[in-house]
Amino acid sequence: MNSAPEINKGKLPRHIAIIMDGNGRWAEEKGHDRLFGHLNGVESVRNVVEGAAELGVEYLTLYAFSTENWGRPQYEVSGLMELLVDTIKKEVPTLNKNNISLSVIGDVSLLPANAAAELKEAINETSKNTGLSLILALSYSSRWEILEMVKKIAAKVKNESLLPENISEEDIESALCTSGIPDPELLIRTGGDYRISNFLLYQMAYTELVFSNVKWPDFRKKDLVEAIADFQSRQRRFGKTGQQINNNKSG
Ligand code: FPP
Repeated sequence: MNSAPEINKGKLPRHIAIIMDGNGRWAEEKGHDRLFGHLNGVESVRNVVEGAAELGVEYLTLYAFSTENWGRPQYEVSGLMELLVDTIKKEVPTLNKNNISLSVIGDVSLLPANAAAELKEAINETSKNTGLSLILALSYSSRWEILEMVKKIAAKVKNESLLPENISEEDIESALCTSGIPDPELLIRTGGDYRISNFLLYQMAYTELVFSNVKWPDFRKKDLVEAIADFQSRQRRFGKTGQQINNNKSG
């Protein structure tokens, strides 16, 4: 029997990002349409958000809808939007009960008006919470975000408030959607594929990647714990040697 792995709660990743993949295949395997997979994926979202909050993770970013997802069949796009709006609306009291704040990264101007309004309300109603920060990537893609960042910096150069030779990593970071949020230390992708799919490309320079074969609707807290245990078993070197890292630990 597989027992849950031990994790060190003192060394949790502060920020975990998740690509929730495999909903469509999970549903199709069961003879249902793809929306059935997304519907069941909501239960995994609840379970994993609760698990992350219980553990004491500070930031959890979920890739809920990519810029590219707008190109899916119309029934799937509108079904997903409806599901997102309904879920967010329903979950606000639970988010408040668990001290979880909600925020969004992505091009919300593309969302249907009712979805944008519900989202704004949920963000406002949970804004005072100080526990887990739940970030939904909605209508998000990293290349869109990088393009927006370049436009912001170009505007500063144009109005001469920033000189090209003075552009710094801090200028870049503060012009990204994730400004003020630490880079994810752990990325989990479910569903068995080994891709990043246009997600947080700048922020993931040193992120540890964990790929799970479990399809998102079957993913639960125990799978999150397993991914954290995998993360904790790795040595993060940030371009240095293992010896340098070990010497620093003992010194
Ligand atoms: C990827 O699976 C999943 C999505 C595009 C949507 C994820 C959305 C949810 C889990 C719904 C609710 C979310 C929140 C935050 C309330 P896929 O459809 O690409 O699966 P496939 O690779 O098997 O086709």
